[in-house]
Amino acid sequence: MDKAAIVQTIIGNNNFPKNQQATAFAPANIALAKYWGKREENLNIPVTNSLSISLGTKGSKTTIAINDKPQDEIYLNAQLVDNTSTFAQNIIDYLSLFRVPGLYFKVMTNSNIPIAAGVASSASGFAALATALNNLYAWQLASQELSILARLGSGSASRSLWHGFVEWEAGTRADGLDCFAKLLPYSWPQLRLGLLLYSTKAKSISSRQAMKATVNHCPFYSLWPSRVNAAITKIKSAIINQDFSSFGQTLETNALEMHALMLATYPPIIYSNADTMLGRQQVWAARNQGIEVYFTQDAGANLKLIFLQEQELLIQQLFPQLEIVNPWEEFCKKP
Ligand code: PMV
Repeated sequence: MDKAAIVQTIIGNNNFPKNQQATAFAPANIALAKYWGKREENLNIPVTNSLSISLGTKGSKTTIAINDKPQDEIYLNAQLVDNTSTFAQNIIDYLSLFRVPGLYFKVMTNSNIPIAAGVASSASGFAALATALNNLYAWQLASQELSILARLGSGSASRSLWHGFVEWEAGTRADGLDCFAKLLPYSWPQLRLGLLLYSTKAKSISSRQAMKATVNHCPFYSLWPSRVNAAITKIKSAIINQDFSSFGQTLETNALEMHALMLATYPPIIYSNADTMLGRQQVWAARNQGIEVYFTQDAGANLKLIFLQEQELLIQQLFPQLEIVNPWEEFCKKP
């Protein structure tokens, strides 16, 4: 099945917008147990489950409107994006899944996170776009259907529809209709995240290409699924028992294992730079002094720190450039 067939299954005949415009917000999310590798390329169906936490008010707010011009127009942070850029192309291709002939859209996205720097901007972007489309067409989709639609834009977007802890299930069906994310019924109000941004430049290799290379050329990839599953189990019980040491150790190890897979791929894929390495060492040095802080890292050089609220001041002193995020701060403003 291709993307268009999946969309057709989900939205049926409701393929004409009921409103002139609609707006939605979706938070970015950071995986604590990562998605790395697809079992189906085109539909973004992962090899394994993954588990994330959303970034509260950090994310994307997207307005979609029916355009009176005979082309799509994409605005990012109030700037018109060139339709030949990869960024616009990805969105235009996605919009085409929902287009009847002659229908064009104007998409205005405001994102308060760096684009394509491994801070999950595509996740919040496609989740916000899928939710805005749901509002524009008045589909009234269930959250699991919306998660599938968001996944067709970007895999990790399937997890960006909720605040809090989310698990994305890989499912087993070839069409991926059982591959969607779910909100987990846990919270941890003392948990804080910090963004250590070393590079806001676009990544050197897309996560799509890097995943494919790892799956095909890393001799250790076959170990990965059982490692992720074990990490998910441990992270869930650490959340339930509010065991921060086990939580932090597990998520940090999972991130390093993902990067180890890429390092062991030929040609090697290295997202880290010298600052990333220094940052990791600073985190380990802090832990040696008894300050409990852990990191995770996605497909980029930046680190995300995880710590408890009681350590916030100390950690801000150690990492003055750290942007602290309270994942439980709700996005309360309606458009
Ligand atoms: O959804 P994508 O293609 O941006 O891939 C995301 C991959 C990681 O961020 C590294 C891991 C994850 O689970 O989000």
